[in-house]
Amino acid sequence: MEPFKSNDKLFDLVNKNHNLLPVFNRFGIRPGFKDKTVTDACAEKNINKEFFLAVVNTYHNPVHFPEEELLSFSPKLIVDYLQRTHEYYIDYFLPKIEAHLNKFIENNSSKDLKMIITFYDKYKKEFLLHIKDEEENVFPYVLKLLNKRDEGDDLMFTISFEKEHTNVEVKLSDLKNLLLKYLEPAYDDNDFNEFLSSLFQFEKDIIDHARIEDKILVPQIEKIKKTK
Ligand SMILES: [Fe+2]
Ligand SMILES: [Fe+2]
Repeated sequence: MEPFKSNDKLFDLVNKNHNLLPVFNRFGIRPGFKDKTVTDACAEKNINKEFFLAVVNTYHNPVHFPEEELLSFSPKLIVDYLQRTHEYYIDYFLPKIEAHLNKFIENNSSKDLKMIITFYDKYKKEFLLHIKDEEENVFPYVLKLLNKRDEGDDLMFTISFEKEHTNVEVKLSDLKNLLLKYLEPAYDDNDFNEFLSSLFQFEKDIIDHARIEDKILVPQIEKIKKTK
């Protein structure tokens, strides 16, 4: 799969992969593309074009992970992008999953329904706690380090992103397993499929997100700490 390039048109990118639209939105790029290329749109919105392309290509192709390139961008750019992604999860994606879940529950007479709701609630709680920790501790710490204002104890700060990401991902996969393997099919098929596919979509998104945190942000933090 060829990565997208700066002279590609936005319209063509979305035609090839419409799931890129929310990624565009995180950079403030919205449809009404006309014949604009990536270069045009990034110039117009004052976006770092290389960073935009690295994120888009990472998202588009799971095998493509331009680690070296991503590592070269300012951690501030990475943090901004990750924060916008968190907003997208909280304001849009979780409510969307819940709307599907509610519809699924409405037309469902399975006796295991309570278990599904409990699994989802547990997952959501863990996910939100994880995001809260990043927003309140990890990201401010990175920005402080960058501004070289950090002293003493903060340097002892350790990041256990990778372990936490695995925990969050396992909980989501437990929920999917329960739905696919064990739930008595006493529900409307379309409602089930929609709920499940929203979970799969979410999973793909958060895996990419966590990969940027684990493989890019964490090494960047280590690097800044070493050069201090
Ligand atoms: Fe995150
Ligand atoms: Fe995370």
